Amino acid sequence: MAKITFIDHKGTSRTVDAAPGVSVMEAAIRNMVPGIDADCGGACACATCHVYVDEAWLPLVGKPEAAEAGMLEFAQNVNHTSRLSCQIKLSDALDGLIVTTPESQF
Ligand code: FES
Repeated sequence: MAKITFIDHKGTSRTVDAAPGVSVMEAAIRNMVPGIDADCGGACACATCHVYVDEAWLPLVGKPEAAEAGMLEFAQNVNHTSRLSCQIKLSDALDGLIVTTPESQF
């Protein structure tokens, strides 16, 4: 299992457990974490699962691929840490991952 901590724009922190292979978005939905709507169900077609990856985790999480980068253009307040959480697959290496949800999705 991997632990993921979601921090909302007010600083409220929620840590959930998820199995490797599950996306960060799926972990949020299954644990009713607010701030991730995932309107398209993980098809990389809505950008409502936008998160900011903690700087320390960026090297392990990696950069978005072309389709994800294109969809991120429709998200608000994107920065260099932005990812679509449906495109981040969990692994043991990501145990302890920290992401923040944008204020615009609250
Ligand atoms: Fe729609 Fe991630 S759930 S882009």
